[in-house]
Amino acid sequence: MSHSTPTAAPGDALQPQDLPLDGLIVGVSLATLDADNGYGEILDAALGWRDGVLRYVGPRADLPGDPAALAAQVIVADGWITPGLVDCHTHLVFAGDRAREFELRLQGASYEEIARNGGGIVSTVRATRAADEDELLRLSLPRAQALIADGATTLEIKSGYGLDHDNERKMLRVARRIGEVLGVGVRTTYLGAHALPPEYAGRADDYIAAVCGWMRPLHEEGLIDAVDAFCEGIGFSAAQTRRVFETARALGLPVKLHADQLSDLGGAALAAEFSGLSADHVEYTSQASVAAMAEHGTVAVLLPGAFHVLRETRLPPLDAFREHGVAMAVATDCNPGTSPLQSLRQAMQLACTHFRLTPLEALRGATVHAARALGCDDRGVLRVGMRADFVRWRIGHPSELCYWLGGALAGDVYAGGRRLAGGTA
Ligand code: NIG
Ligand code: FE
Repeated sequence: MSHSTPTAAPGDALQPQDLPLDGLIVGVSLATLDADNGYGEILDAALGWRDGVLRYVGPRADLPGDPAALAAQVIVADGWITPGLVDCHTHLVFAGDRAREFELRLQGASYEEIARNGGGIVSTVRATRAADEDELLRLSLPRAQALIADGATTLEIKSGYGLDHDNERKMLRVARRIGEVLGVGVRTTYLGAHALPPEYAGRADDYIAAVCGWMRPLHEEGLIDAVDAFCEGIGFSAAQTRRVFETARALGLPVKLHADQLSDLGGAALAAEFSGLSADHVEYTSQASVAAMAEHGTVAVLLPGAFHVLRETRLPPLDAFREHGVAMAVATDCNPGTSPLQSLRQAMQLACTHFRLTPLEALRGATVHAARALGCDDRGVLRVGMRADFVRWRIGHPSELCYWLGGALAGDVYAGGRRLAGGTA
C-alpha cells in the first residue's frame, strides 16, 4: 500500500477565545480521518484542546506563536494520534462466563444447539440476574478498562441479559455508571428482545409485548439511547422485531439490529425501513437488503470477533457494501458467548484478515463509521469543534494498528480532553 503524502491543515486558525488551551501536544503525526479518503495525515503536527473540545488540529509550524505561551500544558511527543476508537457494539455488562461452551463448540456442538439446550444467552441471563448492581459493575469494569487501554474512548453497551424490567434496568444503570466511573463515553442500547427468558417459554409474543411495555419507563429514566433486537431463528421473528421497532419509533428512539447473522430473515432491510442507525453482523444479508441500507443510510456493523470464534465461513457482502456506498463499521461484540473479545484494535485486525478490509477501512470503521452507527456526530474524526477524544499510539504508521496482534500500542488515551489511560513513555 502506498502511504499518501501529508494533507494540508483543515485551516481552522486558533481563535483568541480558545486561549489558553488546556493541553497542546506537538511533534506527533496525525491521522485526522477528516476526508472522504485516506488517513488525513499531518506530519510534525499539533493538537490542542480546551473544555473537552478540539481547538487546534494542524501543522506545528502554523501555530500562532510559541507553544508554551498557548497552553497550560505542552506535551512534546512522537508517534501517531488518531481519533479515539468507538466500539459501537458490545454486551460487556454481564456476570459469569461461558468457557465451557467454548469447549463444547470445539468438540462439535453448534451455537444454536447449545442455545436450544438451555445454554447460550440464557445461561448468562441466570448469572446476570443473580448479581446485584454493585457486583455487576465490579465484574464489568475490567472489560471496559481493557477496551480503553487499547484505545476505545466511546463504548456502546447493550442490555439483554436481564430479560425482565428490573434486571434490564440494572444492566443499563451499570452501563451508565461505567461511563461515570471511567470517564469514557457510553451509549446505552436496550436489547430486551435478545432471547426468550424461561418464564415466557412458548409465549414469545407475550414476551415481546412485555419488552415493549418496559421501554417507556426505562426511557423516561434516561437509560436508553437506542433500541436493538436479535432477529434470528433462535431469537425473534421479523414481525416481532417490527413491534419492538414501532414502539421505539413512537418514543423517538433510534433503532439498530442484530441482523442476518446465521440466516437471512430480512433483518437488515427491516432496520433500514425504520431508518435504523445500523444493521449488525450481516453475514447473510441479501443484495436487496444492502440496497435498502444504502437508501436509508444504515451502517453495516461488522463483528469479526463473533465470526472468528464461531468459526463461521459465510462472509458479509463486502463488495456490495462498497459498491452501494454502505458505510462499514467494525466493533468487538464483546460478550461471553460468541465474542469474548476485549480489544477493538484486535477486532480491526480480524476485519482485515477475515473480511479483507484494508487497514484504512478498518480504522475508519472503528472511528468515523462507528460514531455514525451510534448517531454521534461529535466524534470519530480529529477536527476543530469535535470532542477531544484521541489516542496517541506508539507506531510508525497507522496501518500498524491492524498489523500487530496484541501489544501495548496505546501511549495515551484521552476522552473529553481527560487522560484515561497510558503514559508518556
Ligand atoms: O451479538 N447474537 C446475539 N447476541 C450476541 C451473542 C450473545 C451471547 O451469545 O451471549 C452476539 O453475537
Ligand atoms: Fe451482539
